[in-house]
Amino acid sequence: MRRRLIAANWKMHLGRVEEALAFVRGIRHLLSRVEDVELVLCPPFTVLSALAEVLRPSPIALGAQNMHWEERGAHTGEISPTMLAGVCRYVILGHSERRATGGASEGDAAVGRKVHAALPHGLVPIVCVGESAEGKEAGETHDFVGGQVQAALAGLTPEQVAACVIAYEPVWAIGSGRSATPAEANRTAGLTVRGTIAETFGEDAARAVRVLYGGSVGPDNIAAFMAMPEIDGALVGGASLGPEFVKLVRRAAAVP
Ligand code: 13P
Repeated sequence: MRRRLIAANWKMHLGRVEEALAFVRGIRHLLSRVEDVELVLCPPFTVLSALAEVLRPSPIALGAQNMHWEERGAHTGEISPTMLAGVCRYVILGHSERRATGGASEGDAAVGRKVHAALPHGLVPIVCVGESAEGKEAGETHDFVGGQVQAALAGLTPEQVAACVIAYEPVWAIGSGRSATPAEANRTAGLTVRGTIAETFGEDAARAVRVLYGGSVGPDNIAAFMAMPEIDGALVGGASLGPEFVKLVRRAAAVP
C-alpha cells in the first residue's frame, strides 16, 4: 500500500521566521487531525530549523526545496545533504523553475547526482518531472518525461527507487490555473512514470514508488486527482500558502 502524500511547495514565500511560524501555528492543529494522508511542508531554507522545532511533536513532516550533491566544499550559496539531514525528511529535486534557469547544475545529470546524494542521508527525494507546453503540443510528453525519470534514477537499486517520490508537474500547468485533466495526469503517472521505472527497476519498484501530480492543484480539483489509481497525492504551490490549504488537505483525506 502506498501512503498518500500532500506536499506544500512554498517556493519563495513565507521565508521570514515570524510569518512562517504564524502560518504554521494557525494550521498545525487543524492538519494534525488528518489521517491517512502524509503531509509535508517545503518552506524556504531560512525557516526550516524554526519550523522543525514547532512541528516536532506533530506528524507533519518538513522538506527542503533543493540541495547540492556534495557534502561540503567551495560551493557558495549551496546547501548540502548533511546540512538538511536531521532537519527535514524530504527534499524537492529538479523542480522545473530551477531546471529552467539553472543550466547544467539543474539538468538531468545533476538531478541524478542529487538523488544519489540524498538517499544515504535518509532524505526522501521528491523528483519533479514534466513537459513544456511545446513538448505537449508536439506529442513528446511520454518520451520527455520518461527520459527525465530515467536520468534522475539511473544507477539506483530497486529498493532505493521504491523509496523515492516522483512529482509529475507539467510546466504549462504550474501557476497557470490550467491543470492537467485527472485522466491525463493518471495516464502519465501510470504509463510513463511507473512504466519507465518498471522497465529498468522491475514491477515491484514501479508499484511501490509514490507518484504525485502538481500544477494548479487547489481545493476544488484535489479530490479528482486523489481518486485516480496511479496518483498518490499532490505537490501544491499557490494553494499551500493560505487557509485554503486546510480545505485542500481535508478534501484529499476524504477521498476513499
Ligand atoms: P502551483 O500549485 O502554484 O501551480 O505550483 C505547482 C508547483 O510548482 C509545485 O511544485
